[in-house]
Amino acid sequence: MQTCQILGSGHAVPHRILTNADLEQMVDTSDAWIIERSGIRQRHIAEPGSSLSDLAADAVKQALERAATSADEIDLIIVATVSADMKFPAMACLLQEKIGATKAAAFDISAACAGFIYGLHLAKSLMQTCAYQRVVVVAAEMLSSMVNWTDRNTCVLFGDGAGAVVLGPAEGNSGILSTTIHSDGNHSKLLYNPAGSQHVLTPEDLNNNFATINMQGREVFRHAVASMTAALNEALELAGLSAEDLDFIIPHQANNRIIEAIAKRFKVPPGKLIVNVERFGNTSAASIPIALNEAIQNGTIKKGATVGMTTFGAGLTWAGAVIKI
Ligand code: ACO
Repeated sequence: MQTCQILGSGHAVPHRILTNADLEQMVDTSDAWIIERSGIRQRHIAEPGSSLSDLAADAVKQALERAATSADEIDLIIVATVSADMKFPAMACLLQEKIGATKAAAFDISAACAGFIYGLHLAKSLMQTCAYQRVVVVAAEMLSSMVNWTDRNTCVLFGDGAGAVVLGPAEGNSGILSTTIHSDGNHSKLLYNPAGSQHVLTPEDLNNNFATINMQGREVFRHAVASMTAALNEALELAGLSAEDLDFIIPHQANNRIIEAIAKRFKVPPGKLIVNVERFGNTSAASIPIALNEAIQNGTIKKGATVGMTTFGAGLTWAGAVIKI
């Protein structure tokens, strides 16, 4: 069976930065509280009216260049997002047009913060069964478009961004060694945005912040730590490896305390843990590919490194992967 590897990666974030000091002017919060509870110091927030597919296109173009791949070679584009430009068509189709990937099939998947690893799982399976040679997996989110900016419980946590990888057939030791995905709809009300076909939006909904993120933070935290631990353990087992074999762990960048809890469970020394949540906040599905690309570009993660990734999000969804760069 054909296996696949990452040939190139890229990421993009909006230029505008929203600091904790800025948030102090908007809601009853403080820099000290946000840092203590989440580790976040700033996040990148898109200008109103800007397009997430533009950000995704920027990330993909970088990934294509690093993979020495032209857009017309792409067989498939998978976009993981819950904040696409439009309800339809799929953002993957809008992105296809922007990058000129004329022969690709393109679709979106919705797995919230777990979307990137869901995308890798799907891409790996389709490369095996359909013999695709070049697949782009993009995770892009503009959660600022659905944050209730008067709710201090949630508005301090999220940021916007996009990360992308280009996958091709594996060569040598490199490759996606394992992926695992899970979900549990019993807990869908812990984290959700109710806007959708079940409730046609009214003018009052706009004033009442109806179409925004609802979250039970404490419960989400508890599930996140347990699920992310289980997902990475399962991915390691599928790859026939143990935690000591990993050179790096990239956890979903939701919150420093969740990341520290994961590090403790896997006994990860600080140098092995990739963390950038303080600069980007929680960019949902985009958090892992942004962290991965940053670490590759700044020389932290080098060719031959074995990397564990684990994530968790609304659904509930959770997923893990082990890759060799
Ligand atoms: N500034 C100041 N005070 C605040 C803020 C804020 N921004 N937000 C909440 N508070 C207050 C609350 O109102 C509450 O006050 P009260 O005791 O007077 O009622 C107090 O702080 C404690 O609130 P908790 O919600 O219990 O605080 P907690 O320690 O759980 O921290 C947090 C909240 C940061 C949201 C935490 O629960 C968390 O990180 N949960 C995980 C959520 C998450 O990461 N979600 C992202 C999506 S899912 C994912 O990506 C993993």
